Amino acid sequence: MDKINAKAVIGTNSWGGRAYGKALRGSYVEDSVIKEAMCEAREQGLMIYDIARDYGLGKAQKMLGEFADELDMDDIIISAKYTPLSRYRKGCVRRSFEKDLADVHRDYIDIYWLHLPTDIEQHLEEMIGLYNEGKIKHIGVSNFDLEECKLAKNILGKAEIPLYGVQNHYSLISREWEKNGMLGWCRENGISFWAWAVLEEGMLTDPRVKTKSSPMKFFMAPQKRKMHGLYRVMIAVAKRHCITVPQVAEAYCANKGIVPICGCRKPTQVKELAQAADIKLTSGEMRRLEKAADKSSATVLGADIFRIFVPRKR
Ligand SMILES: NC(=O)c1ccc[n+]([C@@H]2O[C@H](COP(=O)([O-])OP(=O)(O)OC[C@H]3O[C@@H](n4cnc5c(N)ncnc54)[C@H](OP(=O)(O)O)[C@@H]3O)[C@@H](O)[C@H]2O)c1
Repeated sequence: MDKINAKAVIGTNSWGGRAYGKALRGSYVEDSVIKEAMCEAREQGLMIYDIARDYGLGKAQKMLGEFADELDMDDIIISAKYTPLSRYRKGCVRRSFEKDLADVHRDYIDIYWLHLPTDIEQHLEEMIGLYNEGKIKHIGVSNFDLEECKLAKNILGKAEIPLYGVQNHYSLISREWEKNGMLGWCRENGISFWAWAVLEEGMLTDPRVKTKSSPMKFFMAPQKRKMHGLYRVMIAVAKRHCITVPQVAEAYCANKGIVPICGCRKPTQVKELAQAADIKLTSGEMRRLEKAADKSSATVLGADIFRIFVPRKR
């Protein structure tokens, strides 16, 4: 199976119903607009969609299946996850997987990620079973630390399956995976690193563009106030390349060799993401952005929020 070379990925976490959209992002986007975004993605050559069972309170992956059928898009690449939470525990991978297949109207998943590092060995064994049946084309892990990634690589290696990728939280203001050696390890081992929330759920967008408020944005506001210096640098870099501020955050990741997953609901967002992934920033610009990001001392919850579901190591 050839490795899927991802340039950028469309995140579907904010697809869903009216109340969900308003609570999360302050606005609801009509299905017709999301379908237009999918058409734009095809135009731009962005074919990968990232889903999970609970995105949009269970609605997002169903929407993807329906819309792909309506738009005759049987060539999209689906990145789905096994989320070992609530009633989905050890022994439940197949049940969850089959539900995903039914939602997206497919008989295989291109990339299947273990969403959290719990019961790693058992869950990966269950995924290996599906891989050997040809139902999963690539296996990845998400929200894993370096030690857990090495364990996953060894387990898969014994079954002669390469670890496709690591999908973790990473952005201009959350770069710990670079500092602690994860990115270097991925590069050395030919493992893709996909970054979720490269726009920090809207914090790394243009502060001059006003959007509708939401409970989520209310919690972000104090952090955004710490980021004026970073916004100044992002605006200057954006101006130099004739791009937007969020494109600077996306391009920053792409210039690190990281695959940005960005929550897109509108055609312009998809177009901007595709363009940003091709923009070359200079080493001076990258340095200035990092310096301003470090100075901002904004804190985000990131993947730490998920560690509460992971049993502590003894
Ligand atoms: N593996 C994991 O554990 C995990 C965890 C979280 C997320 N993810 C994946 O990562 C994806 C991305 O994360 P996310 O969706 O939470 O947040 P995100 O991509 O960091 O940010 C989404 C926000 O940015 C805005 N936006 C997107 N493109 C824009 C553009 N070009 N210009 C201005 N604003 C723009 C969106 O606006 P609108 O409000 O207008 O849509 C939305 O408010 C998710 O959808 C999901 O697929 C994975």
